[in-house]
Amino acid sequence: MRKISVLTVLVIAIVMLASCATKPVSQPSLIERLDEAASYISSRTGGKDVEVGLILGSGLGGLGDEVEDAVIIRYEDIPYFPVSTVESHAGQLVIGTLEGKSVICMQGRVHYYEGYEMAQLVFPLQVMRRLGVRTVIITNSAGCVNADWEEGSLMMITDHIKLTTDNPLRGPNTDELGERFFDMSTVYDKDLQDVAREAASSLGIDLKEGIYMFFAGPNFETPAEIRAARLLGADAVGMSTVPEVIAAAHCGIKVLGISCMTNMAAGILDKPIDHLEVIEVTNWVREEFRALVRTILRNI
Ligand code: HPA
Repeated sequence: MRKISVLTVLVIAIVMLASCATKPVSQPSLIERLDEAASYISSRTGGKDVEVGLILGSGLGGLGDEVEDAVIIRYEDIPYFPVSTVESHAGQLVIGTLEGKSVICMQGRVHYYEGYEMAQLVFPLQVMRRLGVRTVIITNSAGCVNADWEEGSLMMITDHIKLTTDNPLRGPNTDELGERFFDMSTVYDKDLQDVAREAASSLGIDLKEGIYMFFAGPNFETPAEIRAARLLGADAVGMSTVPEVIAAAHCGIKVLGISCMTNMAAGILDKPIDHLEVIEVTNWVREEFRALVRTILRNI
């Protein structure tokens, strides 16, 4: 009798343990996670309004240091925020005022090649939307596919190509953010493009305009891939921006995209592409880039 009861207790304990192990732990929804991150940011800024988002790509983060009355928040302190593993990316938000606009500026971003899911890449942009952002200036360093241009050119992105099948919005739609099926034909906003053209011309900057094509990386492309990209109509290639632009279109944020051509894309010049050179070129164009973005901000 005593033996049976010990056995029974053991069986019950095992069944209970097994059921605990398989019981799904309920995860906060995307909106709950976004709102937790947004509330944390608001708690640090005293609920400051933010109108314009700035995503500063590799080597272009310096502009964030010019933000006035800045509150700086490290990504690792923000709930659910992805943290960049790339050395040239500082990994912090700078919130304050630039050219009279209230801005939230990302100094560094995460990339697909770092191992993140596409949905994680766009979490910061979706947090910006929860904080009130309706306009974002997205910048990146890119390989120049257009053989008539040169290293150091700045290009306004007028459209993009993504042939990688993964998508940041794959999975259940979050209706509070946007619709399941949404238009991409006006996300690169024409009015913002007019402002950028005028800003460039007032500064004497030869701002190119063209198509950015997304590659997942981390390898630079092959010469054959670059020839294919050119045939498809690409002027620049890069490993960022496009997931963010898709999420921006979904949640109703207008985009201005600016690429800094840090190198001629693979196979155009008779030399290999070197990541250190890519960073170095952003140093030459830093001043032009900074003046351009500041002037655009002043006029939007
Ligand atoms: N290819 C992809 N991404 C890049 C490049 C490139 O040549 N240069 C800077 N980012």
